[in-house]
Amino acid sequence: MKMLEKSILLFSLLLEIVLIHGSDHVERMPYIIYMGDVPKMRPSMSSMMEIHHRLISAVIGDEEVARQSIIHSYGKSFNALAARMLPDEAKKLSEMEGVVSVFQSTRRTLHTTRSWNFLEFPTTVERKVGRESNMIIGLLDTGIWPTAPSFNDKGFGPPPSKWKGNCEKVGNFSGCNKKIIGAKYYRLESSPPIIDILSPVDRMGHGTHTSSIAAGNAITGASLYGIANGTARGGVPSARIAMYKVCWFGEGCSDIDLLAGFDDAIADGVDIVSVSIGGVTVDYFSDTIAIGAFHAMRKGILTSCSAGNGGPQAESIVNTAPWILTVAASGVDPQFRTKIRLGNGKKLSGISINTFSPKKQVYPLISGANAANTSSTSYGEPSACDTGTLDSNKVRGKVVYCIEGMGRQDESVKASGGVGALIRNDQFMDTAFSFVLPAAYITTPVADIISNYINTTKHPQAVIYKSRDVHVTAPFVGSFSSRGPDPLSMKILKPDVTAPGVDILAGYSRLTTVTGSFMDDRVVNFNIVSGTSMACPHVAATAAYVKSFHPDWSPAAIKSAIITTAKSMSSKKNMDAEFAYGSGHIQPARAVHPGLIYDANEISYIQFLCKDGYNGSMLQIILGNNAIDCSDVRVPPGYDGLNYPTMQYKVPSARHKVSAAFRRTVTNVGHKKSIYKVTVRAPKELSVMVKPDTLKFKRLHQKKSFRVLLKGSPLGKKMLRSAEIVWTDSKHSVRSPIVVYQSFF
Ligand SMILES: *[C@@H]1O[C@H](CO)[C@@H](O)[C@H](O)[C@H]1NC(C)=O
Ligand SMILES: *[C@@H]1O[C@H](CO)[C@@H](O)[C@H](O)[C@H]1NC(C)=O
Ligand SMILES: *[C@@H]1O[C@H](CO)[C@@H](O)[C@H](O)[C@H]1NC(C)=O
Ligand SMILES: *[C@@H]1O[C@H](CO)[C@@H](O)[C@H](O)[C@H]1NC(C)=O
Ligand SMILES: *[C@@H]1O[C@H](CO)[C@@H](O)[C@H](O)[C@H]1NC(C)=O
Repeated sequence: MKMLEKSILLFSLLLEIVLIHGSDHVERMPYIIYMGDVPKMRPSMSSMMEIHHRLISAVIGDEEVARQSIIHSYGKSFNALAARMLPDEAKKLSEMEGVVSVFQSTRRTLHTTRSWNFLEFPTTVERKVGRESNMIIGLLDTGIWPTAPSFNDKGFGPPPSKWKGNCEKVGNFSGCNKKIIGAKYYRLESSPPIIDILSPVDRMGHGTHTSSIAAGNAITGASLYGIANGTARGGVPSARIAMYKVCWFGEGCSDIDLLAGFDDAIADGVDIVSVSIGGVTVDYFSDTIAIGAFHAMRKGILTSCSAGNGGPQAESIVNTAPWILTVAASGVDPQFRTKIRLGNGKKLSGISINTFSPKKQVYPLISGANAANTSSTSYGEPSACDTGTLDSNKVRGKVVYCIEGMGRQDESVKASGGVGALIRNDQFMDTAFSFVLPAAYITTPVADIISNYINTTKHPQAVIYKSRDVHVTAPFVGSFSSRGPDPLSMKILKPDVTAPGVDILAGYSRLTTVTGSFMDDRVVNFNIVSGTSMACPHVAATAAYVKSFHPDWSPAAIKSAIITTAKSMSSKKNMDAEFAYGSGHIQPARAVHPGLIYDANEISYIQFLCKDGYNGSMLQIILGNNAIDCSDVRVPPGYDGLNYPTMQYKVPSARHKVSAAFRRTVTNVGHKKSIYKVTVRAPKELSVMVKPDTLKFKRLHQKKSFRVLLKGSPLGKKMLRSAEIVWTDSKHSVRSPIVVYQSFF
């Protein structure tokens, strides 16, 4: 089960729908058959389809059934096919020559104003406006609301000449403009009925939000009913947007559609791909996002992905392939607080995005437990205000106190005629959510005060005020943001970086409401939403910004620039340290001038995969290159065998001494003649030696190699030890975190 990573609460409901939906399939299930690179002779689409038909016929036996089984033929950017098959047919196919992987299509789920200022990236930052307007960010998402103020095309020239995509002006989608230059939708596998609208229009708000974070125009006076009032703007406001709608309201995002979006985006000529969608992965080439991003990388396109909303559990991170930029979500300035006053005058504080101002001084207060509907047959707890458990005669006109339950207590209270909800919830106290009525999450200590007040007062009363911004200083990683270590490779530190993703104000679709609930009637131009989904387009925009200065840089070079210039974050504030924040918080303005880069190309990744145990004949097919054979491939020296901008070493056990050697090569992109010296920061239990410790460059693009040797005592009870090396000349500082860890489980 894979999901769009949005506001966690908002989508718990959708998830349920998806689960129910997924169970009514007939015996032949949708599979994706991945066959690597497009054949050398570049067959036409129709002959490609014929080849695919023959392939499926060979395992199904019947030509007509085979034809009906095929859902989609991919072939613009890579060779793949989606078809309905029985498990044994899929197995037979997976053993055929030329097939890299066969896997079931799953459904994935979805996982801004002040955020760019917080990143010291003001509106006045130096820009290559001409080149920035040539940048195209492709988003795989829920569609886009084209008339949002963020996408006004005033002052924009025609689309860049490299653009090969198009725009589907159908069903409730009013069409593209010079800002949104492409918009397509993909719903290849599902059949009606549909809650969503069959067009690139955004029925959910998610895609409009992520697009405006990445490349929305600057809009002053943007707010959600006055909350978070300020300027809403995208990271690269001159850049263009191409929307590939692969996620559907009530359905999630099918792998088959996701792969079709990638196939087109790469061929259409986008510069950066932004994917705020997640799911669980077993290996890179049975994962549509990793496959799509790999072929994008081969064409010079970097893919930025959300790390997932599975935090704070260890190893919850997704989208971790080394060619992907994996983004964690931070909370920055501001946060939202909701004041509560009890009838006895006591003032308390909760967290929510409450846009409602009270109409009365005070309201009667009751606990869910005291408002139970005794004849209710609903599954659930009245004390948790679960759906259908409350007695509307007891709740009407009152504020209801609830302990944490199955979610959506706000809807349940509203349905029973309540006018407010105070919900005990200790889990996400760093993230504010919207509710369909005045409401707030409160911590257990606050909940106890309220509960005690109710127990000891004859006519308890309370009022919930409209939320206010409060200012917090340092960025912190959102508790929901997925944590490392990477379950797929113990050698690569993930997440890569952190970007704002908690309570972000950005453009929204007018085809949905603030909460997405049918019980809500607030339709807005801007909404406040949280998730690693919101962090991902911040980094996609940063990548486009860097590319507008350095159009010739490889995806790995752009990625390296963003990683090595990130601001270090505090392990005191974020217990999981690098597994929460990677190399730290992005600094877009600095990423343009990294000084040195850790470059890599497709061969580097293949070498890494060979070293990691991937089958060489499989890699041959992926690259369409017969010359590649893992037994011949030069196994790159060093522990990880990849020129990655960070370093990670897993000790075999708590008793093992730390001993590892890494090899790295940096390319000079700063000043022609420059001398870099290394600084090491490490705890006393870990020795970090860098050889040589000085790198002298005579010219631009010159490469220099060095080794990093780690030696240290066993980790014992400690799960993780962090260190870093920093290369500095007079102008630049190139920082690489180093993580040594042992198994979490
Ligand atoms: C979509 O378009 C149809 C036909 O024009 C219209 O009836 C419908 O109300 C529209 N739906 C939304 C949600 O705007
Ligand atoms: C937002 O701030 C601006 C400037 O400070 C102010 O003029 C405007 O009234 C505010 N808007 C809201 C809705 O509070
Ligand atoms: C109590 O629950 C029953 C069964 O779900 C329902 O029919 C009834 O309307 C509820 N009563 C009140 C007062 O909410
Ligand atoms: C209030 O009373 C309820 C029901 O007797 C009890 O469960 C709860 O713990 C009490 N609250 C406090 C703070 O003592
Ligand atoms: C790689 O996979 C192919 C086809 O699945 C198989 O024939 C071959 O033996 C494998 N090679 C290795 C080294 O495992």
